[in-house]
Amino acid sequence: MKQRILFVCLGNICRSPAAEAMMQLLVERYGLTDSVILDSAGTYGGHSGERSDPRMRRAAEARGIPMTHRARQVKEEDFDRFDMIIAMDDNNYEALFRLAPNRDAHQKIYRFRDFLRHHPNWSYIPDPYYEGHEGFELVLDLLEDGCTTLIEELKQPR
Ligand code: 4NP
Repeated sequence: MKQRILFVCLGNICRSPAAEAMMQLLVERYGLTDSVILDSAGTYGGHSGERSDPRMRRAAEARGIPMTHRARQVKEEDFDRFDMIIAMDDNNYEALFRLAPNRDAHQKIYRFRDFLRHHPNWSYIPDPYYEGHEGFELVLDLLEDGCTTLIEELKQPR
């Protein structure tokens, strides 16, 4: 059975497209390309159609992670199209909860922090948009931690 996963942040130009790109590499490395489908979206549509933030792209590409996503806004149909919808922070989580049309949809919403294993001090993925280079590096460190947990769970379904 295919697992369809949507990562969601605010603008869909920093955190969630980086999560998607990092997860795509892991999916390829684990030989799961036939069974996992990935995408990302933002709760705010103001950057729709844009490529990811160049600062995020540079930081990700320096780690060997190519980012090609074009931003889009999350929509109600996404709750039909995806099995897991993973929010980067509590604001995204709450926005998704408001958009979800029913109880089944609510149960598809997760927080990325629930997949962190090695960063006990972080309960969300911080928005790097107004931060310096370190902010983007921190995002990538956190994403690497959570995506590693996620791929292990996909490999060994509970
Ligand atoms: P993201 O970062 O949610 O990780 O894509 C942001 C991108 C754009 C804005 C805020 C956060 N913005 O205010 O335009």
